Amino acid sequence: MPVKIKLQKFVDKLPIPETISPIKRDKKGSYYEVTMREFSQRLHRDLGPTRLWGYNAMYPGPTFDVMKCETTFVKWMNDLPTKHFLPIDTTIHGAEKTLPEVRTVVHLHGGKQQAHSDGYPEAWFTRNFEQTGPLFEREVYEFPNLEATALWYHDHTMGITRLNMYAGLAGFFIIRDKHEQSLNLPAGEYEILLLVQDRSFNLDGSLYYPSTPDKNNRRLPYPSIVTPFDADTIVVNGKVWPYVEVEPRKYRLRILNASNSRAITFKLDSGQPLYQIGTDRGLMEKPVKMNEILLLTTERADVIVDFSRSFGQSIVLKNVFKGASPETTDVMQFKVTTPLKGKDTSSLPDRLGEIEFLSRKMASRTRDLTLDRVTDEYGRSLNLLDGKMWIDRISEKIELGTIEIWRLINSSTDDHPIHLHIVDMQILERQPFDVAHFQATGKLKFTGHAAPPDPNERGFKDTIRAPAGYVTSFIASFGPFTGRFVWHCHMLEHEDHEMMRPFEILKKKNGLKNILERVFKL
Ligand code: C2O
Ligand code: CU
Repeated sequence: MPVKIKLQKFVDKLPIPETISPIKRDKKGSYYEVTMREFSQRLHRDLGPTRLWGYNAMYPGPTFDVMKCETTFVKWMNDLPTKHFLPIDTTIHGAEKTLPEVRTVVHLHGGKQQAHSDGYPEAWFTRNFEQTGPLFEREVYEFPNLEATALWYHDHTMGITRLNMYAGLAGFFIIRDKHEQSLNLPAGEYEILLLVQDRSFNLDGSLYYPSTPDKNNRRLPYPSIVTPFDADTIVVNGKVWPYVEVEPRKYRLRILNASNSRAITFKLDSGQPLYQIGTDRGLMEKPVKMNEILLLTTERADVIVDFSRSFGQSIVLKNVFKGASPETTDVMQFKVTTPLKGKDTSSLPDRLGEIEFLSRKMASRTRDLTLDRVTDEYGRSLNLLDGKMWIDRISEKIELGTIEIWRLINSSTDDHPIHLHIVDMQILERQPFDVAHFQATGKLKFTGHAAPPDPNERGFKDTIRAPAGYVTSFIASFGPFTGRFVWHCHMLEHEDHEMMRPFEILKKKNGLKNILERVFKL
């Protein structure tokens, strides 16, 4: 257990990560270079400097702020030490002793990019690209930035993503477009990005990450992965429980839960509403007035908050997630103490835009995929997708542009955030089923009604909540690129331990053959 250090809340100012500028810009796009380095940073007034790994030696990494369709080239480089400072479990697939300890690969989460630039978990590289993984293809990634939304970039290395990310490798990547700019939403200093994570600390300020779930269990390897691990402080933009001084006016908050595994339900203690305008995939059709917003890890919410009637007040952004430990029920504080600099002319429009939703009849196939929990050879819980391991044959091969419905049958005991790379998902419904019956017979017996997506899920998503005991159905069009990608649970302690599978988007077959196949199926 970490030596619990009692840290005072709301004593550090919320940092705003710097925006990164391109090294050059030409007709083809903008070119950036980012180097991962080790460094130290104070994460709380009363905490010694913490050793971290960060993109360009920053935690969080620098923010990319680009326009839609402006191609971004990034050369991701690794200048990290050759020893990891967090406990590696070498019994996990992809983290074996024979591999270099410190490997990295960067994934732009929610981005639509070709496979060579998607940060495949086995496309890792070490310091100065001295060694590279079997699927490594290139040093410079190319991001076409096809939609306006808040993305983030983070490490995705096979078997050690949870450790690399915990060490600090994560940052925002914002894509904007003209339409969004025409809506007159709060902007500039009135738009605040919040990268929320949980972290634990040792007394000297170093990061605490457990080496084993159970010291006394001799069957376990050491170190051994710990599933799940929820840390005991909340860190926003690299400070523990920070505060921010705001004016009495509207703000746009872009909230990202970037915890390893923790789910967070955000709520303001003033009781005022959060007007959610966007999901992971950008703006919804209209704002939704929310009392609280649940974000599983990696989910994002785009939110407008109005502090205009709160001058002089301090408002705490809480975490009211059921079962959150008492310390972690606070996230950060807004002090509405800065006098208004000018009239607030920004707006919260009634209509935000239009989304072309998919309909069930467009789907050419429904796939049933289980999320289940078994035990591994050491007796540890092991969560699997479709009962398969990472190295099993690729079973999801889908032709480019094909629309499918996936039913995620969750007979495990966790609510898993399921993420597909490059593919937009639209939630259709969630329906409870008899888990014991399913486990005994393999047949679904529903025990309640199918519920439509929540009001704030009525847009596309790149990660969806698949609750335990429910069948969660989504529809998706597989594209826009062909190649090999991954889908996985985004709880990093699950993802690293087999809850990730490759899938493949294949080139379109001959069109006529396709049409005939469809016709005859009807
Ligand atoms: Cu945010 Cu495959 O990940
Ligand atoms: Cu999971």
